[in-house]
Amino acid sequence: MKWPVYTQGELARLLKNAVAELDPAPSSILVLIDQNLHQQLEPLVQSCLDPYGMPYRLIGFEAFERHKSLAHLEELARLAVRFGTDRASVILAIGGGVTSDLGGLLAAVLLRGIRWGAIPTSLLAMVDAALGGKTAVDLPEGKNLIGAFHQPDFILCDIDTLASLPHREWSCGLGELLKTALISGPEMLATLEQTDAQDLRQPSPFLLDLVAEAGQTKMRIVEEDPMESGIRKVLNLGHTFGHALETAAGHQDLAHGEAVGLGLLCACHLAEEMEVAEEALTRRVDALLRKLSLPRQYPGELPGPDRLRTLLLRDKKAESGRLDLVLPVKPGQCILLRKVDPVLAVTTLREVLA
Ligand code: GLY
Repeated sequence: MKWPVYTQGELARLLKNAVAELDPAPSSILVLIDQNLHQQLEPLVQSCLDPYGMPYRLIGFEAFERHKSLAHLEELARLAVRFGTDRASVILAIGGGVTSDLGGLLAAVLLRGIRWGAIPTSLLAMVDAALGGKTAVDLPEGKNLIGAFHQPDFILCDIDTLASLPHREWSCGLGELLKTALISGPEMLATLEQTDAQDLRQPSPFLLDLVAEAGQTKMRIVEEDPMESGIRKVLNLGHTFGHALETAAGHQDLAHGEAVGLGLLCACHLAEEMEVAEEALTRRVDALLRKLSLPRQYPGELPGPDRLRTLLLRDKKAESGRLDLVLPVKPGQCILLRKVDPVLAVTTLREVLA
């Protein structure tokens, strides 16, 4: 399994090396790139790929969550086939989590699977979405419901690409970083608490270390359990609640990292109610959400219990009308509650957010 590489200001070198190391050499490269980065990164991509002489094409793509759909997947697959993609071709996904989810799934299913690489350009994708080979598109019924595990051949993270990230997207990435900190242990959580909020939102050697540490924390877990049959489930901390909230609110009103933040709050609350969590964990998470400019309330009116139950049960880990829930015990320690009655999760959502 290839681990992500983290650098600052070295993207061109990383990309040239990654392409040179592909074995066998790619017959062509299809570059799926977030439209917002197309102009900025096209010259860099060209300067890296031109020397290899193989055909390549950049496809700009509006990387909205609503474009993570089967219809878009089909459109891209047809473009790829018309371009001449074969089994020795490579897909390169440049953008945030939407782009790596869609590009990765395209690679997983096109011609029954071809190689792919990711250049994540959002904080959320660098610490979570682009790592570990989960690829997916959404259905109207729920997020990431059509997907595949398909590990990339390379993941190149250069934190200078974060320089133009909008404020809200920084917050979303920090929401996933907070999840990783709760899984990782007291040091990373304390770093988030003790660092000036502004320093968490600008590329710097400090941020490079923090992001790399978060990515490596995730990769250690993924390497142990790539198909999520055991320990990897811990990475879903906050996500069962979060995905339900995100689908209920609509991705515009509640972006993924924001929903994960609320999901973490719910998980902490339930863990405290059940007396499994260290005292003050909910208070610490709540204070961090405020510091990281993440919402601590649901936008609008929380859906009723029946709707919440339906959405919770659409979680991919739900079985026979029961949920698997990850709860934090203390920084660095989580537990997995199996076969939870969804009523408990509904009650938690309503206690925390209604
Ligand atoms: N985002 C959770 C995982 O990759 O397992």
